Amino acid sequence: MKFGSLPRVRLANLPTPIQEMPNLTKLLDGAKLWVKRDDLTGLALGGNKARKLEYLMGDVLDKDCNYVVTHAGFHSNWCTQTAAACRKLGLGIVLVKTAPHDNWEPENWDANHLLHKLMGAEIEVTKPDNLRTKLDAQMERLRKEGYRPYYMPVGGSVALGAMGYVNAILEIINQSQEMEVPFDYIVHCTGSGGTQAGLVMGVKAFNSEIKIISVADDSSPPEEHIAKALPIIKEAENILGFNIKVTNEDLTVLNDFGGGGYGFISEEKINAVKILAETEGIFIDPVYTAPAVAQMIDLVKKKKFRKDSNVLFLHTGGTAALFSYKDPFKANIIGEKLPWTIPPWSPKSG
Ligand SMILES: Cc1ncc(COP(=O)(O)O)c(C=O)c1O
Repeated sequence: MKFGSLPRVRLANLPTPIQEMPNLTKLLDGAKLWVKRDDLTGLALGGNKARKLEYLMGDVLDKDCNYVVTHAGFHSNWCTQTAAACRKLGLGIVLVKTAPHDNWEPENWDANHLLHKLMGAEIEVTKPDNLRTKLDAQMERLRKEGYRPYYMPVGGSVALGAMGYVNAILEIINQSQEMEVPFDYIVHCTGSGGTQAGLVMGVKAFNSEIKIISVADDSSPPEEHIAKALPIIKEAENILGFNIKVTNEDLTVLNDFGGGGYGFISEEKINAVKILAETEGIFIDPVYTAPAVAQMIDLVKKKKFRKDSNVLFLHTGGTAALFSYKDPFKANIIGEKLPWTIPPWSPKSG
């Protein structure tokens, strides 16, 4: 099947704007810094998943399914946007979320968990060891009840989902021409690998010179992240219908600001959130976009970019997560020690 003829449901407000970051540029004085506002894609509170879901939901409707079953961490942005897409299209949604133990409950409902509840998603909380069994059981239950469930892997990071970011590259190339700004780099956060896979395929497919710098959402070695993105690219090469020959060398992953682990908070991540808020009035999230911004700032400070280069930070959203980290943010702002670095909802907690 060819890229242009894949089933697609319009869910995102596109194109998202590209804005200058003049104050951050001036402060760091090392490269021209820009932001692509994929936090403004719409669909719940916006974010990168809206682009992926356009293709994934296209497939759901094409296969005549009426329920989606997916999984992720307790405060997942992916779950929020997937639930929103399901509600918009009148479909049922089951979220199997991982936490320290089965049926884990927070004291307060806030951030993404509150949004999941508000959308009436069916939620099951499990420890990671039981995830596969719980997902299979949910699929089986729905089938027995007469529904036609569709399983979506975490982050929508499969070939179809990645098509959303192949499309984003086309969008950026067009904006770059209109704005007469030749972007040299895109800096973004990588987690489950779908965004990275799409971006890397996009620059290859459309013969762009833009270099993709992917920043890990944790401290695991770059090879582990590359090993997530490459199979998605291999799978997508078949869907795209042309041979784009992506190799390991096309994938750059940096992991200097993972903060010890996925979702862990650190002073560095908090400072990245604060610097963007203070200089540009833009809010990023502590889990994904903060490590990417921290890494980008570090690269500028270490003069890894030429001063006249145009660096585009891809803001992939996730801002709702800020509110689940309110206690460490408050501590940092009033000059106290962080109350925790491993979030209570992380399976690594306790
Ligand atoms: C806000 C945000 N940015 C970046 C990512 C990483 O994207 P991907 O999973 O496609 O690597 C995620 C994934 O959940 C996210 O929620």
